This record gives sequence, structure tokens and C-alpha cells, in this order.
Amino acid sequence: MKNSKSIKQDKKYIWHPFTQHKISSEPIKIVSGRMTKLKDDKGKSYLDLISSWWVNTHGHSHPYIAKAIYKQSKKLEQVIFGGFTHDPAIELAKRITDILPRNLKKVFFSDNGSTAVEVALKIAYQYWFNKNKKRKTFIAFKNAYHGDTVGAMSLGSGSDLFSVFKELFFKIKLFDYPSTWCGDKNIEEKENKILFKIENEFKKNNDIAGLIIEPLVQGSGGMNICRNIFMKKLSKLVKKYNNLLIYDEVMTGFGRTGEIFACKKTKTQPDIICLSKGLTGGFLPLSLTITTNKIYNNFLGDNFDKALAHGHSFTANPLGCAASIASLNLFKSKKIFKKIKIIEKQHHFFLKKLLKLNSIEKTRICGTILAFNIKGFGNGYKAMIPEEIKKFFFR
Ligand SMILES: Cc1ncc(COP(=O)(O)O)c(C=O)c1O
Repeated sequence: MKNSKSIKQDKKYIWHPFTQHKISSEPIKIVSGRMTKLKDDKGKSYLDLISSWWVNTHGHSHPYIAKAIYKQSKKLEQVIFGGFTHDPAIELAKRITDILPRNLKKVFFSDNGSTAVEVALKIAYQYWFNKNKKRKTFIAFKNAYHGDTVGAMSLGSGSDLFSVFKELFFKIKLFDYPSTWCGDKNIEEKENKILFKIENEFKKNNDIAGLIIEPLVQGSGGMNICRNIFMKKLSKLVKKYNNLLIYDEVMTGFGRTGEIFACKKTKTQPDIICLSKGLTGGFLPLSLTITTNKIYNNFLGDNFDKALAHGHSFTANPLGCAASIASLNLFKSKKIFKKIKIIEKQHHFFLKKLLKLNSIEKTRICGTILAFNIKGFGNGYKAMIPEEIKKFFFR
């Protein structure tokens, strides 16, 4: 379809995500993607530096993953997952638990990061419910982003992105995220204050169903980085109060932080972990919520009452599972972690150059991530500077 015509049709029929259509510029029509590049319908190519919302771990249209999906599609494209199973799901569940901390053993499938988080919340809530303890409050962190379904939005209520829905939210206790940066002298004090406040909450509040955190990096909240030691202390604290530690590794998973998962990097063991985005190498929507046998066993009973009432039409879609297995193979065979180490080294090198600029501050590095603030502009999605930067890079 010709560009002008197809953009008109887009405008006529499509409602885009997180978009104010009245003022937004026309969408760019992408016709193909190859490794790091996207090409538009006028032949212009773009470096996809945001890996299409952080999902694309091995480059666009990677032939190995494409082939694995094609092969699977000729065999079995989809089957109901309640009462049925299939090899790609079994293999993926085994492969993923083999590389996660040893306590994480039971895999629940859903379709995207938000649903992975919803499942985690429901599992945590019902874990206590099945033990005859009703607990309704979750601990989360300011500026967190856990998705845009209602439960996930509630957790993200510390940012103003979802304020219009706030009357729908359930009970959340919010704490500061100990955002740090290179040369941050007060970080230990900051961390201890936060941990002290969280401990007080555990002491006085027996309604806490779980604590959820984006370990090491808050992504959408502004690439806020915390230290390994904070994650270790936090994990110890949650375990001291026999509560549930939930890691949302939807963004940090699959190499972002320099190790396959942030929990591996921090040598901590959450009770529940949420994975999505890079899981299928960016090819298909799929997510996993993985938990311990201890939690899973609490859902067993002689009738449905204790079972988890959750499942989607496309739960554990075989094509998504085949893509994920192929992506895991690439992580294994292509020595990606050596490359990630090189990227991290390059970041340190580039940082030295950056630091010569007066306009930037709070530089921080974690694995493949290098972030900094631009002085005087604040951060967050409502600041004006992102639009300017976007225009600059498009030019
Ligand atoms: C940490 C984290 N959790 C959850 C989500 C939601 O994932 P999705 O957009 O696939 O629903 C995101 C998305 O950016 C995320 O960064």
C-alpha cells in the first residue's frame, strides 16, 4: 500500500498504545527488520536502539529463531493448555528452571509482562488465602513500572502515569527505590533508611502479601539503578519476616544487567519471578511466572477451591515456546555474555567522554545499560526533553 494511503488507513482504524492521537506525529511505517536495523517504506533505515521496547535480544528477524517458529508451526501451532501439554512447553519450563536460582521450580505461562505480574500477584494473594490468612497489601517502589493491567498499574501508582485510574487500585505501600549513580556518596545511608522503613512496615502490618521489585534496575521509571548489596539485604529482610519476595525481571531478564538474570547477578533467590520481553527473542508475546514448590504445594487440594483460577486462550502457545527455546540456544551458543562484558567495558570508556559534558549528571552503568540525567530537565515521560531528543536522533 502507498505510504500516504496506508497512513490514512492507520489513522482511520488504529488506536496506538500510550499515544495522544490529537497531537502525535504520524507513525513511521516499518516494512522490514534485520538484526539491529529497521527499514521504513521510503527505504530509510533506523538503528533500533530501544530494541523495540526492550524485547529484541538477538536482532530483528533472526533466521535461527524464524526457522524454529516455522518448523514448530508445521507441527503444532496452538493447543488448549488446560488438561493438555506439549513438548515445547515442557522443554522451555525445564530449560528456564535449569538457569534460574535452584528454588524456582514451577512455571506458569501467560502472554506478556503485565500478565506475568498479575499472575504473580494472584499467586501471592492466594498463597496466604489458602493458608487461611487474608493478606491484601503489596509493598512496591516509587517510580516502579510493572505493566498496565489493573493490578500492575496499582503497583505503579508511585508514578503519575496511571493517576486517572487510581480509584480502581488496590492497597499498596510504596517505598523509595535507592537509585544510585557513579560517585554517589550517600548511598549506604539511603539504602539503610529504606530498609529500616520497610522493616517497620513488616513489623506493624500483618496484611502484607508480598514485596515486588524490579531488581537492580527500574526500567520505565528512568533507568534507576540500585546496588547488589541492597538486593541482598532486601531479600534477607523479606525472608526474615517469612514474606514473599517477587522479582519483576520482565525488563532485567535475558542479559540486560550483564548476567542472564538480575537474581543471578545479585545471588538472591526470589520466591516468584516474572519474565517476558526478551524471552522469545522479541518474536512473539509470551511470559512466565515461576515460583517455588513450597508455594505451588499450597495450591493443591482435593477439589478446585485451592487451585489457581487463571489462564489465557493462548497460554503456553507452542510457537512462542519454540521461539524461546531457540533464543535460549542462541544465548548459549553465541557467547553473548562475553559480548555483553565488552559492551559494559565500552560504556565505561564512553562514560569518561560523557563526563566532560557539563549538562549531564548521575551517570550509571549496569550491564548493557548506560544511563544519565540531563541537568535541569527532571525525568519521566511527561518531561519535554524526550521529545526533543527523539527529534534529534530521527534527524
Ligand atoms: C519491569 C516491567 N514489568 C512489566 C512490564 C509490562 O510488560 P508488557 O508491556 O509486556 O505488558 C514492563 C514493560 O515495560 C516492564 O518494564
